[in-house]
Amino acid sequence: MRINKYIASCGIASRRASEQLITDGKVKVNNKTVTDLATSIDEYNDTVMVEGQKIQPVARQIYIMLNKPKGCVCTVKDDKDRKTVMDYIGELKDKRLFPVGRLDYDTEGLILITNDGDLSHKLTHPSNEIPKTYVAKVQGEVPQSDLATLRNGIVLDGKKLGRSKIKLIENADDIYRYEVTIFEGKNRQVHRMFESVGKEVIFLKRVAVGELRLGGLTRGTYRYLTDGEVEYLKKY
Ligand code: URA
Repeated sequence: MRINKYIASCGIASRRASEQLITDGKVKVNNKTVTDLATSIDEYNDTVMVEGQKIQPVARQIYIMLNKPKGCVCTVKDDKDRKTVMDYIGELKDKRLFPVGRLDYDTEGLILITNDGDLSHKLTHPSNEIPKTYVAKVQGEVPQSDLATLRNGIVLDGKKLGRSKIKLIENADDIYRYEVTIFEGKNRQVHRMFESVGKEVIFLKRVAVGELRLGGLTRGTYRYLTDGEVEYLKKY
């Protein structure tokens, strides 16, 4: 790769400004100053220094959403060798990506996957958790008084949860579908909320993270986030 292109790919300067650094004698390749703009480097084996500092290419940031199917875990590698979400991202698997937060083995739906550690940290930090919306199927109707208790925030792990939003979407036979928005990410939170009022969640799917919606994304497939979606998450 041409030396000026390499310096630019390390986020040091534009290609043109990189040329200036080279002609100014500020660039060394394998400890030798180079001033020839035609210099090519081997980006895997050569060491390039600019003003005495070793430089490295900036990894391209990747942001995708996967419609996670049931039966896989949200880790990069599972110690029990179960399927992971990484098994669904094809050629992106080798790009050092990781899931943002977790969905249970049996929960399906929207999971963000990225290599942007700052954004992931921000979105999952307890002081700043982004709202997450689920569809939960429950056997039997949850009485209004119990819904009010859940909306108000129950105590989990010795701490009171913040408020949540819950509304009935539909019911057929004795199966009730609720849309639930929570503002924390406690382990099995939605399951445990319904358990606390004596109800079992028999199906759980995450349909939105903040304003990002799963929409019609086919189960087990992923799509890149739009620039607007990435910007929205970064501002969160
Ligand atoms: N709540 C749960 O119970 N499970 C999940 O996977 C996510 C939220």
